[in-house]
Amino acid sequence: MDKNDHDDPRVVLVSGGSRGIGAAITTALTQRGCRVACTYRAGRDKAEKLAVDAPEQVFPIHFDLHDDATAPVAVQRVISHWGRLDSLILNAGQWSGGRLAETDPTIWWRVIETNLRGTVALARAALPHLQHGKSPSIVLVSSVVGVIGHAGDTAYASAKSAMIGFGRSLAKEVARDGIRVNVLAPGFVTTDMTDAVSESARRRIERETVLGRFGTAGEIAKAAVFLSEDATFCTGSVLTVDGGWAL
Ligand SMILES: NC(=O)c1ccc[n+]([C@@H]2O[C@H](COP(=O)([O-])OP(=O)(O)OC[C@H]3O[C@@H](n4cnc5c(N)ncnc54)[C@H](OP(=O)(O)O)[C@@H]3O)[C@@H](O)[C@H]2O)c1
Repeated sequence: MDKNDHDDPRVVLVSGGSRGIGAAITTALTQRGCRVACTYRAGRDKAEKLAVDAPEQVFPIHFDLHDDATAPVAVQRVISHWGRLDSLILNAGQWSGGRLAETDPTIWWRVIETNLRGTVALARAALPHLQHGKSPSIVLVSSVVGVIGHAGDTAYASAKSAMIGFGRSLAKEVARDGIRVNVLAPGFVTTDMTDAVSESARRRIERETVLGRFGTAGEIAKAAVFLSEDATFCTGSVLTVDGGWAL
């Protein structure tokens, strides 16, 4: 079944769609014929560049994980623009590392807050619209460190683990509405986020990764599109895409 026939393309909201993994997801979805509302916080120019490349299909919207109030506004803008919402990909996030003993508690909790609050707010705002969507789904972009843990990442890994618990519980809550909820757990991927990884840490991670390298944003995007569009018998799943780092 082609869910993206020209008369009735699916409408997907991708948070953090302005660059990195989110931009790759936006591009992959447009290549599938979807309409994509891609959110930016600081990177308006990058989101608008994606819209220049596919003006009928990409709609840039402002959204800030630090400001709950931007979530319902973003969802409402999608509804006003395209009349409906079929799928949500909760990808926006920020990494911040540091060992527990060396991290100020205020900063530690800020990492949790940044990665969770806006994500939950966006899911909450989207649910009433997804109920009326075509083959509706939510994908949460967590991380493999939220599955197996990682020294120096207690705050970030806690937030990403919470996304897994949130997603699996929400999957049970909304199955009756026909909405699938799945979690994607990428390993180490070359984006701006991993620019901060030191050369020695990069070499260690590459040695630990069975496939011997970092992944690309495009490789993660393929898995996100699978969960969002094709995985019609998956809900509450956690899909690890990490080149075997967690093995
Ligand atoms: N890269 C990795 O190795 C890796 C591994 C596992 C999981 N992940 C997860 O994958 C997701 C995407 O990561 P990435 O590597 O593509 O990161 P990235 O290159 O740093 O891009 C982050 C995206 O999130 C948006 N964003 C950041 N802070 C935001 C905020 N406060 N409010 C709203 N949007 C915000 C950015 O928007 P603006 O630029 O417009 O501000 C950007 O579009 C994240 O959830 C990350 O935790 C990444």
